[in-house]
Amino acid sequence: MSIESQEDLDGLREAGRIVRAALEAMKQHVRPGITTVELNAIGAEVLQKKGAKSAPMLVYGFPREICISLNEEVIHGIPSERVVEPGDLVKLDVTIEKNGYMADAAITVAVEPVTEEQRDLVDCAEQAFLKAMQVARAGNRVSHIGRAVEHEVRRWGFDIVRDYAGHGIGRSIHEEPSVPNYYDLRARARLTRGLVITVEPMVTMGAGAVVQAADGWTIETADGSMAAHYEQTIVITKGQPILLTAAA
Ligand code: CO
Repeated sequence: MSIESQEDLDGLREAGRIVRAALEAMKQHVRPGITTVELNAIGAEVLQKKGAKSAPMLVYGFPREICISLNEEVIHGIPSERVVEPGDLVKLDVTIEKNGYMADAAITVAVEPVTEEQRDLVDCAEQAFLKAMQVARAGNRVSHIGRAVEHEVRRWGFDIVRDYAGHGIGRSIHEEPSVPNYYDLRARARLTRGLVITVEPMVTMGAGAVVQAADGWTIETADGSMAAHYEQTIVITKGQPILLTAAA
């Protein structure tokens, strides 16, 4: 969507705050021994207390409130009885709806002890997002975001998941435009003031090719290599974008 009123901005800011609160609550509890369905319950409780709904559940019938993906799982992992172990990369991806507005963010939590390469992978995803923020401006093309992400990820020596992208958001989860994480010349559309999008680098230690798991939801790397994901919902302006899902 594109923001057209103060009401829109306020509604999206509230949705963004709820997303961040759910992420922070779950992050505090990521440790060896907890199951992903227990983490989901912690996030779901935040949503319920704030009067928000899980957007993937609402829009797509996702079986739980939060997408939680471990290690080689990139996105759309279903919370289960699987136990978090030392050395895991835990991706928490929260999309919520409140008063008709939606916001979406993801973080990757490294469960110590992790290797230096794992640490780098997590940092790379966030750094690629931050590099994209320098070009996510009204007047630039959507493709400039992917160009910045791709450049940064290459610098770290990692690969990018090309089959999934950032996206317009606001009234539903996945709106136009698609926001690729690589330099895609087809993404020629101009970024415009008030446009609400996600930017969400998905980076892999091995090749960025992905497959869908047998559960029909989880997207994982084809070669089984580790993945990291970092995402926020932003509003395009003439200057620095507004980060709706930033930590307070
Ligand atoms: Co997203």
